[in-house]
Amino acid sequence: MNQLDSFPVIIGIETSCDETAVGILRGDREILSNVVVSQVLEHTKYGGVVPEIASRQHARTIDVVFQKAVEDAQIDLEDVSAVAVTEGPGLVGALLVGISFAKALAYALDKPLIGVNHLLAHIYANFLVFEDLIPPFLVLLVSGGHTELLEFRSADEVIVLGRTRDDAAGEAFDKVARLLGLGYPGGPVIEEAAKRGRAVHPFPRSLSDESTFDFSFSGLKTSVLYFLREHPEAKVEDVAASFQEAVVDTLISKLELAIRKRGLQRIVLAGGVAANQTLRKRVNKLSSRYGLQIYFPPVPLCTDNGIMVARAGVEKYRKKEFSNLNLSASPALLLS
Ligand code: KG4
Ligand code: ZN
Repeated sequence: MNQLDSFPVIIGIETSCDETAVGILRGDREILSNVVVSQVLEHTKYGGVVPEIASRQHARTIDVVFQKAVEDAQIDLEDVSAVAVTEGPGLVGALLVGISFAKALAYALDKPLIGVNHLLAHIYANFLVFEDLIPPFLVLLVSGGHTELLEFRSADEVIVLGRTRDDAAGEAFDKVARLLGLGYPGGPVIEEAAKRGRAVHPFPRSLSDESTFDFSFSGLKTSVLYFLREHPEAKVEDVAASFQEAVVDTLISKLELAIRKRGLQRIVLAGGVAANQTLRKRVNKLSSRYGLQIYFPPVPLCTDNGIMVARAGVEKYRKKEFSNLNLSASPALLLS
């Protein structure tokens, strides 16, 4: 492997949901730039992401985000080794903006194009910071669109132990925040409100038996809805704390089940919900009880960004797993 292959410069482009993001990475861990423009304000009044608005905003913003990323990185475009882009899963129109931009860029620079799975990119955010992280490990991937418990043996061998049967954990945070009139995205606002409340309301923990690694959050959301109808006087902060505790309990109990049944020594957290401090504390406790190594990305790298896409791109670059210019969006792309 020559010097260039050991330290390739990869541009990572992410537009699968409501963040327009470009990151530039050298080698495995040197973040040259990481520009993320969130569309939160555009979607807040609807209480969730509106796909058509997301695509339009990406189309409006991607060029400026890219220019800023190149400026911050202080690189010459000739130094770029490849262009990586999220190909799925995500919103089809939103994905297509990033993919079209990436194709044009790769073509103009005459560099390889690399399609990246967004879920793998979330997991790879950990490899940006932890040199000692080596497979196999257990992954709890919790985002706005996904809740998956995985056994990561290698990028080509990811075993899905369980996943949500309905809403994703982040989606539940977003929906309940809307019920509570707290705004969007729900995770950070519920976490903030919960700090001032007490978890006094006993909301359900679904699928709590040991026969499955699957999750379910729609019953929890419905029970918050009914509870609020019956108790309009309830303190918002207490409801937020009780809901958060129910989600965290559910995630922790399945993670613990997987630790006991699969016997892995390392646990990795990934995705937007991994930013949640209550979840992090509980995972830390679990890891001390079982004597395990625990890894979670710094908060800004938990939510969507381009640098995690670049990091996943590095692996594919080394294996020369390139895409051609026919690359299209795969809105329902899975891990395995
Ligand atoms: O990974 P991400 O940026 O996008 C997807 O790929 O879905 O995750 C966004 C999700 C949103 O549902 C948001 O409410 C949730 O992550 N989230 C959080 C926190 N920060 C973001 N959930 C709980 N606590 C947080 N601090
Ligand atoms: Zn994501």
